[in-house]
Order: sequence, then C-alpha cells, then structure tokens
Amino acid sequence: MRKMLVTGGAGFIGSNFVLLTRRLHPEDKVFVLDKLTYAGNLENLKSLSDDKNCIFVKGDLNDFDLLDSLFEKEGIDTVVNFAAESHVDRSILGPKAFIETNVNGTFTLLEAARRNWKDFQNKKFLHVSTDEVYGSLGDTGFFTEETAYAPNSPYAASKASSDHLVRAYHHTYGLSVVTTNCSNNYGPYQFPEKLIPLMILNALKGKHLPVYGDGLNVRDWLFVEDHCKAIDIVLENGKLGETYNIGGNNEWKNIDIVNLICEILDEKIKSDKTLAEQYPFEGSRKKLIHFVKDRPGHDRRYAIDSGKVQRELGWRPEDKFETGIRKTIDWYINNRPWWERIISGQYMDYYEMQYKERLVK
Ligand code: NAD
Ligand code: TYD
Repeated sequence: MRKMLVTGGAGFIGSNFVLLTRRLHPEDKVFVLDKLTYAGNLENLKSLSDDKNCIFVKGDLNDFDLLDSLFEKEGIDTVVNFAAESHVDRSILGPKAFIETNVNGTFTLLEAARRNWKDFQNKKFLHVSTDEVYGSLGDTGFFTEETAYAPNSPYAASKASSDHLVRAYHHTYGLSVVTTNCSNNYGPYQFPEKLIPLMILNALKGKHLPVYGDGLNVRDWLFVEDHCKAIDIVLENGKLGETYNIGGNNEWKNIDIVNLICEILDEKIKSDKTLAEQYPFEGSRKKLIHFVKDRPGHDRRYAIDSGKVQRELGWRPEDKFETGIRKTIDWYINNRPWWERIISGQYMDYYEMQYKERLVK
C-alpha cells in the first residue's frame, strides 16, 4: 500500500491520473496537493468526494513546512509531480510564475523528499515533464531520451530547469527519481486555453478560431488517459534515475486539427436536433477560422520516439488521434456546466486580450 502525494492533482492531467490511480490501486492512500490556480478545479475530482483514501490539501508547492509535515505525518513514500504553470502563451506574457512554481516549487518538493526519506527503499519521486524541453524539430526526426535539451519558451526553460534539478538530486543525493517527458495531451478536463478545447468551445459557440502563423506547426498528440497509464507503469517499473519519453506517434498540423474539429462538429450537430437548437450555425464552422499573428519563438514541430518505454516497460498508447478527438469532443458537449463556469469567469478577459492582440498580424 503506497502513500502517494500527487501535486497539481486538480489540473488537467493530474486529475485524470488521480481518477485512474484510484481505480487501479484502491488500496493506496492518495494526497492531492494543489494551489488551485486558475487551472486547478476541484470539480475534476468530485466523483472522489466520498473516497476516504483520497485526501485533498490546498497548498503551494513552495510551502516547505506544509510539504515537510505531509511527508512526516502521512509517511509519503511516492510522489508524482504534476504541479506547474503549463501554458506557453502565459509564460510569454509573464514568466515569473513559471519560475516560482516550476523551478522553485520543484526544488522545494525535492528538498522535502530529501529531508524526510532517510533511505530510498520503496520510495519513488516521479517528475512529470514535457517534450518541449528538447526545443523544435525540422521536417524529420524524433526526440529521444538522448536528445540535448534546447528549450525555447519560458515555459519550456522552466520545465527543463526542473528536470535538471530532479536529475541532480539523483546523482548527488541518490534520491529515487524518475522523469517522464511527454508530448501534447488532449482529453477531458483540459482547460480551454489550450488548442484543442479552445477550438471545440469556440466552434460550438460560433466564435473565431485563431490559428497562429501559417497553421503548419506540428504537435504529436496523446490522449490523456494513455499518458496517465504510462505514468502508472513508470511509477511501478521505471528504473531509478532514468527518463522516459512518452508520445502517441500522432503527428498533426494545427490547421488539420482545427479543420477536423469543425468537420466532426458540423456533422454531429446537423444530425442531432437538440444539439442543433443548442448550437445553431449556418454552413460549415470552418468559416470561423482566422489566421492570426504567430506566437513569438513558436516551435515548429514536436515528435516523440517512445520506443524506450514501449520496449522496456511494455506501455502502448491505445487511442489514435481519430478516436481520441471524438471522445474529447463528446466529453465537452456532455459537460457544458464544467466549461460554462470556466468561460464565464475572468479567464475570458485573458483570452479576449490575447485574441485581440493577435488579430494585428
Ligand atoms: P494544468 O495547468 O492543467 O494543471 C496544473 C495544476 O497545478 C493546476 O491544478 C494548478 O492549480 C496546480 N498548480 C500550479 N501551481 C501550483 C503551485 N505552486 N502549487 C501547487 N499546485 C500548483 O497542467 P497540465 O496540462 O495538467 O500539466 C500537468 C503537468 O504535465 C505539468 O507539469 C506539465 O508541464 C506536464 N505536461 C503537460 C502536457 C500537456 O500537454 N498538457 C504535456 C506534457 C507534460
Ligand atoms: P498549445 O495547446 O498551447 O500547446 P503547446 O504550445 O504547449 O504545444 O498549442 C498547440 C499548438 O497550437 C501550438 O503550435 C500553438 C497552436 N495554437 C493556435 O494555433 N491557436 C491557439 O489559439 C492556441 C492556444 C494554440
């Protein structure tokens, strides 16, 4: 029976992971530590509100005393570190929070583990990171675990920095760490500032679909549940001190994704009277597409070689993009109260500001 601390467990991937790990390992005790920033949402975990073995703690990764007492009193032996500022555009507008949480916060968490774990027997610290630490690819090639770090955005640089700290704590202090670097995720509970949920909601509501630059940037998409299953496997069997790249081998150009979302929604809504009344629209939603000013330093292409985790730990992604995107669209259609609450809040001010700025090409 593990005593697991999941940081950032009220966010997108963290909450999907908490829901999965409760299903797979009901004998564990899980502590979810989350600051509940704009991206954290307890609604994501509401199906666990009666689960006595899943305890929510509101708190900051930088609060050493809180972390220290959790380790000491609860005997935490497993850490999964999701907590982060996670949006590239926000990191361009204001990098400070990214340094505070992603760099200093990870450092604080490492210190709490180092102080409390007298030995590293049956202890594991899994740090969740991104493929963006590797920078940008040309038209060919893949990121492997050997690719040199070359982060281009403040977000990527802050994650790279946290990865280096995690690595250093293993080499210097022997801390029992493992790091995963994953490609772009999509699926239920993703905050609608990221490409896929933003496009689904805007297309539903008949709002503009802002495609940055020429729309030909490529991301390698992974359904969030596949990522969470990989984390579960790495947590159980990953070799200490190693890193594992995780990706779905699903490369898509942004413009193709936006077109596909429009096609699926057009077809779904046209053939369903209730949806057609809820989301009226004349013609194809593709006419909502606007090419807008590019993101500064916009990485051109990401693609992951996940051969190592497949060969060594037997993980395989189950969803192709074509199936995962349909499940995701259905989830957003069926969970309108979840996103209505978000888009009626102050998040919209940020979105409108970004959008207006980008219209000036
Ligand atoms: P998210 O923004 O949806 O969630 C982040 C969570 O962390 C939120 O619940 C937030 O409240 C919490 N948090 C932020 N600052 C905190 C602090 N100081 N103390 C405690 N909690 C804090 O992010 P996500 O998309 O779920 O990403 C989770 C992790 O996975 C991140 O580390 C991210 O870098 C990594 N990752 C994300 C993707 C992706 O496509 N979303 C891909 C690869 C890796
Ligand atoms: P995003 O979801 O922000 O993830 P990341 O930047 O971490 O890869 O963006 C995915 C891609 O979509 C990226 O190339 C930027 C692009 N994009 C748009 O074209 N329009 C948008 O409104 C957003 C949010 C992203």
